[in-house]
Amino acid sequence: MSEMRILVTGSDGQLGKAFREVFANEKGFEVHFATKAIFDITSEASMQAGISDFKPQVVINCAAYTNVELAETESGIANNVNGHAVGKLAEICNSNSVVLVHFSTDYVFDGAQTKPYSEDAPTAPMNAYGKSKLLGEELALNAYPAALIVRISWLFSLHGKNFLNTMRKLFEQGTEVKVVDDQLASPTFAFALANDIVNWMKRDVTFGGGGLVHYSHNGITSWFGFAQEIRKCLESDVVLTATTSDNFKSAATRPKFSKLENRRFQKASGLQMISWQESVRHCLKNISR
Ligand SMILES: NC(=O)c1ccc[n+]([C@@H]2O[C@H](COP(=O)([O-])OP(=O)(O)OC[C@H]3O[C@@H](n4cnc5c(N)ncnc54)[C@H](OP(=O)(O)O)[C@@H]3O)[C@@H](O)[C@H]2O)c1
Repeated sequence: MSEMRILVTGSDGQLGKAFREVFANEKGFEVHFATKAIFDITSEASMQAGISDFKPQVVINCAAYTNVELAETESGIANNVNGHAVGKLAEICNSNSVVLVHFSTDYVFDGAQTKPYSEDAPTAPMNAYGKSKLLGEELALNAYPAALIVRISWLFSLHGKNFLNTMRKLFEQGTEVKVVDDQLASPTFAFALANDIVNWMKRDVTFGGGGLVHYSHNGITSWFGFAQEIRKCLESDVVLTATTSDNFKSAATRPKFSKLENRRFQKASGLQMISWQESVRHCLKNISR
């Protein structure tokens, strides 16, 4: 049987690296990992060339503009990368009959809800990053209704800039760490996400016909609760103090509650979710303390 051809874009980012780790242990795939220099999603020519040279059956788009704070002053760039470029990528995938997997964010919601957000909940992004990601969702699904769009929240791994790595650094310094306790959702372990996407793809390469789906580990926590779990796993004795968002200066407003309901993902993929605490333990299990 011939190998399935996969193109992973934005392959040096946090999620791109997680897909590298997952595919390193898989057989039956020929995977092309493309950085921005090779496959620039803001360049139609670069995308057309990449698709016609490699001829993927599936594109996993990990390319994005992810600086939530800077997006407030660079909304044009954010809209271009997260919005218009994603629409164009979807158009190209559709016209070449290539399956597209794309990732979006819980920041498309305003946080006014008190129960987990389902895929059908009304969107109302509070910041420029969320607006740019919503634009990408809309343009992609308009151009290609069978594209799979996976919304995720609070991505973490041992690679790149993320909350878990920030905490690890602060814990090493050993001084008191203050963390906000008034934003609730759940952290997403990049490796678990990538592994679940690959397992779903092995069962059904159409991903149940695509569309919007929410991926989240079971349970809800705050950034403070997330920090406590990291501290526990690392057996750190640093002092953690809960605080509120008002005490942190930030350009972007974030939703107070953005837990994503994960039932549709579990039903469509046939996969079971682990708890967010297990995902943190899994990520940190080989880290020396
Ligand atoms: N991180 C989170 O907490 C979070 C939460 C919810 C959703 N998401 C979504 O999850 C996905 C993966 O996020 P991540 O944390 O892995 O992001 P990341 O670490 O910032 O990686 C994004 C990658 O995309 C590349 N890129 C930027 N512009 C590009 C372009 N024009 N063409 C091709 N590649 C380009 C970046 O390259 P350079 O570094 O060279 O610019 C980087 O390697 C994104 O769709 C993001 O919006 C993330």
